[in-house]
Amino acid sequence: MESLPDGERNAWLDRLRTALPERIAGAPRQEQTTWNGERLFVNFSWAEEGAEGSDEKPVAAGIVRLQWIPLSQLVWFGHLEVRPDLRGRGLGSCLVWAVEEAARLGGVIRIRLFARFQARDFWKRLHYESEGGSRWFRKRVSPTPPSAAPAA
Ligand SMILES: CC(C)(COP(=O)(O)OP(=O)(O)OC[C@H]1O[C@@H](n2cnc3c(N)ncnc32)[C@H](O)[C@@H]1OP(=O)(O)O)[C@@H](O)C(=O)NCCC(=O)NCCS
Repeated sequence: MESLPDGERNAWLDRLRTALPERIAGAPRQEQTTWNGERLFVNFSWAEEGAEGSDEKPVAAGIVRLQWIPLSQLVWFGHLEVRPDLRGRGLGSCLVWAVEEAARLGGVIRIRLFARFQARDFWKRLHYESEGGSRWFRKRVSPTPPSAAPAA
């Protein structure tokens, strides 16, 4: 298999970093990424250092977990979460739009996900289509060719 040059991977991550907010509710963004030769696993979270919930797990203000699969021109949305007291203010939609923007500029054509039962309507509002009425959702995004990207 042809390997993806480091530069291309870094450029993709940079687009994502630029699109996603630095802070949510004062919590700085943290990230973990792993490349396995085929897909880039990305985990962004906005967690206060040392913040503890009642079940003693850190409480994140937001979480975005995804996989970028360049050969398939696909982003697989693994997890999206907004802390309960911050929901309903547009944060979840903003995080999705940021991922779509980074995906589009990086030549991605499809975004797919498996929705939680309770979140199906959230995805429909953002124009994700259910596959045959199931909890598998997808959206086609139009990649922006480099020539169409705004000049720096
Ligand atoms: C789903 C989730 C990320 C949405 O985050 P949020 O910040 O509350 O979303 P927004 O404020 O951007 O909501 C956008 C719109 O979707 C609606 N919406 C949000 N969550 C919804 C839900 N679960 N079901 C139906 N509609 C929902 C909002 O009312 C809003 O509608 P409006 O534009 O008419 O006002 C958040 O509720 C969450 O973390 N849920 C638990 C984890 C989860 O289910 N994640 C999805 C995994 S597939």
